[in-house]
Amino acid sequence: MMDLSRYRKDFPILQQTVKGRPLVYLDNAATAQKPLCVIEAVDQYYREYNSNVHRGLHTLSERATRAYEEAREKVARFIRAPRSEEIIFTRNTTESINLVAYTWARQFLKSGDAILLSEMEHHSNLVPWHLLREERQIELRFIPVTPAGELDLSQLKSLLDGVKLVAVTHMSNVLGTVNPVEMITAEAHAAGAKVLIDGAQAVPHMPVDLQAIDCDFYAFSGHKMCGPTGVGVLWAKSEILREMPPFLGGGEMIHEVFLDRSDYADIPNKFEAGTPNIAQAIGLGAAVDYLSEIGMDNVWRHEQEMAALAIEKLKSIKGLRIFGESAHRGAAISFEIEGVHPHDLATILDEQGIAIRAGHHCAQPLMRKFNVQSTARASFYFYNVPEEIDILVEGLKTAKRMFGYVT
Ligand SMILES: Cc1ncc(COP(=O)(O)O)c(C=O)c1O
Repeated sequence: MMDLSRYRKDFPILQQTVKGRPLVYLDNAATAQKPLCVIEAVDQYYREYNSNVHRGLHTLSERATRAYEEAREKVARFIRAPRSEEIIFTRNTTESINLVAYTWARQFLKSGDAILLSEMEHHSNLVPWHLLREERQIELRFIPVTPAGELDLSQLKSLLDGVKLVAVTHMSNVLGTVNPVEMITAEAHAAGAKVLIDGAQAVPHMPVDLQAIDCDFYAFSGHKMCGPTGVGVLWAKSEILREMPPFLGGGEMIHEVFLDRSDYADIPNKFEAGTPNIAQAIGLGAAVDYLSEIGMDNVWRHEQEMAALAIEKLKSIKGLRIFGESAHRGAAISFEIEGVHPHDLATILDEQGIAIRAGHHCAQPLMRKFNVQSTARASFYFYNVPEEIDILVEGLKTAKRMFGYVT
């Protein structure tokens, strides 16, 4: 097993005890913890050069602008985006997808067009399209999910007929499945559709190469990849961004304003109206530096090994069912234990200092597909160690015993 345990010491939050036990944090798919270098980058901005960007001609403002724009360049290199001006800072994945829905889709989709989604999407890649459909007659289609938790792509060609946009997740936050986004993108392009990938669970955990995927839009959140909350990214091909109308109007996104009209700035500013999340973007830049130093290949290898080990050990618990059996998977693992409600599991584990998630994971249609209301989910990151899997398994056995099951 790849040993990345030396990085744990970089995370102040992981050094604490919860309910008298060392914290075992296994809710990384919801949000990741922050290393000291990210906390310090945000702190340093506020202490030393807090200032607005792109406006002042004074020293602090120039420094803030440089740091903010450097963060954009770091993010671009991290995901192999061809050009840094294609990186739009948003608040999170949700806002990135909404930006595409409110601008590109409303400009270019007309009644009768179809959008192809999948049954494993997070609500943030479903509801924006529901909202669009309330305005015009858009048909929503769905790539089915197999019982093993993979996309059933056998009918992809016929599903693509008449489709203008394919919007799918790179990695499922519930099942851990990694979808073949390169193949989907190639097929979609051959059918004349644009492609949006929800990378919220991919960018934090695996090397992502946008030039290899060749999609048109890619969305992700800073907070799931060791960055601060409040900053996310929309990447899109520059020629597409240039033909898209702005999302929000206001300062910073204009070239020239008259009383009765305005000309818009070039990208990326056209999509960053108002004072942006400066500290958060700078913090995200620090997170990207940190992850790059560890190496995303190493992060991914460690997590795949952790997932395999966790699944093997979880399966030793009688009555435990894992949702999602794809061989191509990350380390978000959903499960249930017969006779114990997932919320009870999470509460009992919390008593032992173990943080997992229980609920529908913002994927209610997928829950329905698997005939459950909710699942428990343990999700690992590079700073998790194999011993934490054993603590989780023991905690689950304790929960079973509390409900009167012999383990
Ligand atoms: C696959 C996926 N998409 C989108 C999101 C939404 O991310 P955010 O809440 O940061 O906008 C999440 C968050 O859990 C996710 O896992």
